Amino acid sequence: MPLILPEFNLARLNTLASPVTAWAYTSVASREEVAEAIGYAKEYKLPVLPLGGGSNLVLAANLNALVVHLNLRGIELVDESDSEVWVRAQAGENWHEFVQYCLNMGWYGLENLSLIPGSVGAAPIQNIGAYGVELESVFAELSAIELSSQLAVTFTRDSCGFAYRDSVFKNRLKDQYIICDVTFKLQKTPQLVLGYPALAERLADIPETEITPQQVSAAVTAIRREKLPDPAQTPNAGSFFKNPMVPQAQFAALQQQYPDIVGYPDSASGQVKLAAGWLIDRAGFKGATRKSAAVHKDQALVLTNPGKQSARYVLELAREISATVNELYGVALEIEPRVYPSDDSAAAP
Ligand code: EPU
Repeated sequence: MPLILPEFNLARLNTLASPVTAWAYTSVASREEVAEAIGYAKEYKLPVLPLGGGSNLVLAANLNALVVHLNLRGIELVDESDSEVWVRAQAGENWHEFVQYCLNMGWYGLENLSLIPGSVGAAPIQNIGAYGVELESVFAELSAIELSSQLAVTFTRDSCGFAYRDSVFKNRLKDQYIICDVTFKLQKTPQLVLGYPALAERLADIPETEITPQQVSAAVTAIRREKLPDPAQTPNAGSFFKNPMVPQAQFAALQQQYPDIVGYPDSASGQVKLAAGWLIDRAGFKGATRKSAAVHKDQALVLTNPGKQSARYVLELAREISATVNELYGVALEIEPRVYPSDDSAAAP
């Protein structure tokens, strides 16, 4: 049985540095320990809060939950063909280290997802995406333990219900599973995705046929370092809101009023994906501060917690931003990271 640490302060385990306390914390390093931790929570009738890198979490108050810190480690090649490899990583592997490991092994497809904070196990939950690539395009399957039965279940790509920053683990099956490992299908020959404007611009000096996956990774890393605050310096949880989808007619009407509004056609939905960063920026919030919370000065979509107080003050600022954006543009913003405690509370085993 892993150690159970009561009244545990989570400040160092969430990238917003919110200093809330959990009823108890435990670190698990194997599937057996995951099952034991779930059993313990059941015995004490406590909700379970699975924790990875803590980079997509808003902890707004003390938690009456058992925090289960997923520290399962390991990366293995499970299968290969002439052109592809199937690589399994345990949930507790650091995402960026995993990306670099694959690049070094000559396994390609993850390069655009370089430097995303967090762990492998959390990546499918929000279908992480950046610079033209989403996790679903390299995903093969995952293995999870169901909280209610403590049984292992395999999820294929179809059963994960991936969409933009979304999966079944944020909706229909929210709080019902702990993801233990994820298997990726990667390429032995690079198939580079270079269409994202900021990335294309950064690599413009190199002839396209000569660009390597390592150069794509380095370019993405450089762009992220320029635009996004390092959580170790300035606590943050990445993009605080999803980019909202609006019907084409609404986008056309907004363009009449705001000719430089930024939106991209979304082929999957037939709608237009608006840049929430632009909306928030033009609403005058870039660099704004309220109490201990702030809007990042270089990227208005990122809210920060420089005062390292409870993330509830970041949420207060988020509410003010949402209300103003709605008033100005008639567009509703949806918070992207998981908020705890939430209306529907953490997972009950
Ligand atoms: N913009 C502004 N002002 C701002 C911020 C952005 O005008 O303060 C404009 C930019 O000029 C650009 C557009 O908005 O024309 C889009 O900005 P950017 O390329 O920085 O991307 P984003 O839409 O703000 C999304 C993801 C990021 C991801 C980048 C690159 C979401 C919610 N966010 O940001 O993901 O790294 O694209 O692909 O989809 C995250 O999820 O935590 C995250 C950082």
